[in-house]
This record gives sequence, structure tokens and C-alpha cells, in this order.
Amino acid sequence: MSGAIGIHDLEIATTHHVIDLADLAAARGVDADKFRIGLGQDRMSFPAPDEDIVTMGAAAAKALLERTGADGIRTLMFATESGIDQSKSAAAFAHGLLGLPAQVRAVELKQACYAGTAALQAAIGIVARNPQERVLVIASDVARYALHSPGEPTQGAAAVAMLVAADPALLEIDPVSGVFTADVDDFWRPNDSSVALVDGKLSMSAYVDALLGAWDDLQARGGARPDEIAAIAYHQPFTKMAVKAQRRLAAHLGTALDDEPLTTMSVYNRGLGNSYTASLYVALAALLDGDASLVGRRVGLFSYGSGSVGELLTALVRSAGAGRAERVQRMLDARVGLGIAEYERLHAVSYPSDTDAETPRVTAGPFRFAGIRGGARVYEPVG
Ligand code: CAA
Repeated sequence: MSGAIGIHDLEIATTHHVIDLADLAAARGVDADKFRIGLGQDRMSFPAPDEDIVTMGAAAAKALLERTGADGIRTLMFATESGIDQSKSAAAFAHGLLGLPAQVRAVELKQACYAGTAALQAAIGIVARNPQERVLVIASDVARYALHSPGEPTQGAAAVAMLVAADPALLEIDPVSGVFTADVDDFWRPNDSSVALVDGKLSMSAYVDALLGAWDDLQARGGARPDEIAAIAYHQPFTKMAVKAQRRLAAHLGTALDDEPLTTMSVYNRGLGNSYTASLYVALAALLDGDASLVGRRVGLFSYGSGSVGELLTALVRSAGAGRAERVQRMLDARVGLGIAEYERLHAVSYPSDTDAETPRVTAGPFRFAGIRGGARVYEPVG
């Protein structure tokens, strides 16, 4: 064993439904190119009434564990900013659905879109302490903004499950990273709101501030130099944000940066929409799946969570994502399209905890949110 720790394997899941942004543009009286070119988005995933962060996260983890097995997993960390309970973690629900043993610690982490990276770093710490252990990290989110708001075309949903282990097959994470925190009200979701509130322009400048701050910290701590990084995978609230961010980084460095990876890493996120905590790792997957020449080279990973926290990791690519591109494409193609009237109806659906309710059977995934019984959320395998 080399002492290397990182991501051994990674899987993506999303929702039953999809909305074509050309349809949304037509319904909102906006030129479709604003979304397609201006934001860099084509479609957005949308959950059926019996889907949420738990069903998506558990679906991604189930597919991952069918390849890797669960041996050595003693920790399950669930990162999300669209949590479904103020106390019980989404990890506890996912633990039950996945049939993991009782000898597992299960916890949920929150700091907007950044929490997946916090979970990854915590997982690396656990594995560093005991290299026999492996940690299951799930990042899962449903991005929801108000109908007719500027954020509406940047909704979306997806989950990523990652197995963090010693001597990882996929990605070896470097020990040095750059971090940056600033107390900013750029994007937040109050406890009594089902949609995020956002100051769009401030959120974009806060993202760039965090990128440059994390970059400077990485350099100050002796991290990888620009010429040692073949490509940077970015958190993609909408894929054009990564283009803007890389331009600002290039200006900061006073050097040109290769734009080709920006296209490669956007392939999945253009069709999924924002998936908050999962978005960076979806971009990473697309980058590795789309560019086999990265094997043996170093990539950057820029994680941003509003509020705000940024972290820039670097990592050595050990292998390309065997077969994942075909799996993701099949998953994207299998989604069922929603017309705008039906999307608007579903956007308003909620299941308050003070009324027992059963959800309609819609999802084709392995797990479903069955409804509310006695104030508690009930999940079940799809029979
Ligand atoms: N053809 C081509 N491009 C067009 C166009 C057309 N017909 N019409 C407009 N555009 C371009 C605009 O020029 C603009 O591009 P530039 O920024 O490069 O100039 C782009 O389309 C968007 O247009 P607007 O700036 O007018 O868009 P908007 O104000 O309606 O909304 C937004 C944009 C602020 C990002 C909004 O979608 C939003 O609030 N989204 C949610 C917040 C967000 O995602 N923030 C990102 C950083 S925060 C973060 O990363 C955390 C997170 O996940 C939320």
C-alpha cells in the first residue's frame, strides 16, 4: 500500500423526470439561447413525488456497492443542502435502504454545495487513521427555486456516491488543498422555505472570490503549481459559471488556461442541471469519462458552497471511468419528459408532516419515498 487515499469508485443517479429548457424558455417568453448558450444548460432533472435526496442517494450508492461490496465500510456520510428532516440524517434513511450493518456511523453534513467536499475530506481523515476502513460518501441534492424566478432554469437534481479508500483505483487526493471562507448572504434556504433564496450576481462574484482565495491558499501552502494541473473540475451551478470562473483564474494567474476540459466536464451537468453538493463530482466524472489522456496526470477540483466556503483540491488520476459514460447516458435518456404545466403542478406538491399521505408510484429507481405516516417519512424498496 502506497499511503495514497482517495476516491476508489464513483456512481451517479438522478430523477425520473426531465424538463427541456427550450420548453421552459418558450413558456417564460425568453429566447432559448439564453439558457442554452448564456447559462450553458439544456435540460434539468426533476423529482417524481416519490423521489427525493434519499432515494437518489441510495440509488447511486446501491449501484456503487454492487461493484465494490460493503466490506470495511464503518462510516456513511450524506452531504446535502436540501435536507428532508431537521434532526434525523438522510444518512440514517439511506443506511436502512442499503441494508448496511449496524456497525456504521451515519451522519449528514451541510454547508450549501460545499458539504460533499467536507465529507470527502473527513472520509480521508478516517481512512488515514485506519487504512483498512472504507467510507461511503453520498452527495445528493434537489435544486429548487421559485417559479418564474431568475434561478428557475438553474434547477436540477442528482446524487453521487463515492467510496473513499486507501490505494484508490480512480483518484488519489493530494494532502495539500486551498481553503477559503467568507460570511456572505449570496444564497440560502430559510427553515420555513422549500425553495432557495439567492442574490444571483452576488453569488457569482462570491464564487469567484472563493476560487481565487482557495487558489492563493493552495499556492501558499506549497500545493500543485499551475503547470502541474492538467485540468480543473469546477462546481457547476450552471455550466457557464465554470467558464467564467476559469477566465477569472487565468487573469489572476496572468496565463492562458486550456478551455477544452470545460466542454468535456459539462456534458453531464448540461443535462442534469444544478445538483448542488453532487455537481462538482458529476463534473469530475464527466471529465474522467471523456478524457482518457488524464490518466497519470493531476487534476484540480474546485468546490464552492454559498454562504460561503470554497476548497481547491488536487488529485492524481489513476484510471478512467470504465463503462460509466454509457451508464450515465442510458440514465439521462431513460428520464421521462415533463410538460411545463405538469412541472408547475409538481413544483407545488409537498407532503407536510402533520398529515398522513401516500405518494403515487412513479419512480423507476430502486427506492421510493412512500409518504408520511405518524409524522415520519417512510421509504421502501421498489417491489
Ligand atoms: N443568447 C445568448 N446568451 C444570452 C441571451 C441570448 N438570447 N440572452 C441572455 N444571454 C446571456 C447573458 O448575456 C448572460 O451571459 P453573461 O453572464 O456571460 O453576460 C447569461 O445569458 C445570463 O443572463 P442574465 O445574467 O441576464 O441572467 P439572469 O440574471 O436572468 O440569471 C443567474 C442568471 C443570476 C445565474 C440566475 O440563473 C440565478 O440566480 N441562478 C441561481 C444562482 C446561481 O446559480 N449562482 C451561481 C453561483 S452560486 C453557487 O455556485 C452555489 C449554487 O450552486 C447555487
